Amino acid sequence: MSIFRTKDFDAMRATSASGGLRKVLGPVDLVLMGIGAIVGTGIFVLTGSGATTAGPALVLSFVVAAFACGFAALCYAEFASILPVAGGIYTYSYAILGEIIAWMIGWDLILEYGLVTSAVSVGWSGYFQSLLGGFGLQIPVALSAAPGAIPGVTTFFNLPAFLIMMVLTIMLSLGVRESARINNIMVAVKIGVVLLFIFVGVRHVAPANWHPFMPYGATGVMSAAALVFFAFIGFDAVTTAAEEVKNPKRDLPIGIIGSLAVCTVLYVVVTAIMTGIVPFTQFKGIDHPVSLALQFAGENWFAGFVDLGAILGMSTVILVMAFGQTRVLYAMSRDGLLPKRLSALSGNGTPIVATWLVGIVFGLLGALVPLQVLGELANIGTLAAFCLVSVAVIVLRKKRPDLKRAFSCPGVPVIPGLAILFCGALMVFLSAVTWIAFAIWLAIGLVVYFTYARHHSALNQVR
Ligand code: ALA
Repeated sequence: MSIFRTKDFDAMRATSASGGLRKVLGPVDLVLMGIGAIVGTGIFVLTGSGATTAGPALVLSFVVAAFACGFAALCYAEFASILPVAGGIYTYSYAILGEIIAWMIGWDLILEYGLVTSAVSVGWSGYFQSLLGGFGLQIPVALSAAPGAIPGVTTFFNLPAFLIMMVLTIMLSLGVRESARINNIMVAVKIGVVLLFIFVGVRHVAPANWHPFMPYGATGVMSAAALVFFAFIGFDAVTTAAEEVKNPKRDLPIGIIGSLAVCTVLYVVVTAIMTGIVPFTQFKGIDHPVSLALQFAGENWFAGFVDLGAILGMSTVILVMAFGQTRVLYAMSRDGLLPKRLSALSGNGTPIVATWLVGIVFGLLGALVPLQVLGELANIGTLAAFCLVSVAVIVLRKKRPDLKRAFSCPGVPVIPGLAILFCGALMVFLSAVTWIAFAIWLAIGLVVYFTYARHHSALNQVR
């Protein structure tokens, strides 16, 4: 019973062809789904501390983070085009690197997707409360944030963060087609608001604010990049929907690379305008930097629109990431590594138990843990997954050169190598506490593997 046993590629393709999930998604759905998962707390909230860490050179931080994601995206796209099955990188690695690696990646993805939903629910809650404040309404302080989130203030539970998770969980439990449709509308609103910011904001840019451009040097740029990397998390969620895509070989690469490209352009332009309107030092401690820039320019009316768009925008991020999360659990459970109940489908083809489990557990985490902690942990989990997928591309080219690849990552092994280099460099700039927490999570994963997953694996029946 080797811990490096692999699943059979051809059998997996057959499962995906005859799988239980419905094939309803097309390329436009996927690009929108990608953007739905990508544009959120990263640009709407974290750019504030990003700007105080890097100065106007935050645009460079976004470019560095985009390169890390772009190289990894090319690797993701190759996998997605070979093996369109639910579960994304988890499933690919099961066929290539062996069970224990796949398990660890799946375990890592549970952390990534889950913590992103928690972190974004906290960002959502902040904007929501500021919008309520505009109407003179206020949530009791004790229920407005996680314990210890606001220094000197006694808080117990972030109620809005928990409630938004519950609302979105209900939506997801109604089925994928419905979720994708609602998602498409919300993404349109989100992009509309970002474009509005660009067109209104650009007239108020004072180029003098871009000097000094790099006040904290390369270290500042890299530290900010490790933080705002969060803004790009999500394009990989597209791959977890592979089994529900009509023409996966063509559409998945379009979905992944298309959504990443659109977002990179938007982020660089938004950041340049933000730091062009407001002197970067004034972003300190601000949790709504994008609308702040418009307020600074005296465009209060448009600032209100940005607040509203941010709220909708962050809802779609939670929706898509929770979707990805349930599909990873579905795939792991179908393989026997997690209890079978998690892959039970309801009448409309939704893994219903997994959907509610994710909603409640990560809803509680969002309500009880501060944003910074959630965000950094999500980043380290994601960067680790990107490194592994890049390794897997190289390994698969050696092991199975015969496989037909509808999309081939160019320049192997250089591009996957660059992905590892960039992602590794960003990981170095994350805090020691984050590294320790990540190590503990992985250690728990190993224990679960050896005490449960290994003995329940569906591969036990095959061999
Ligand atoms: N990229 C997503 C966001 O920024 C996770 O909210």
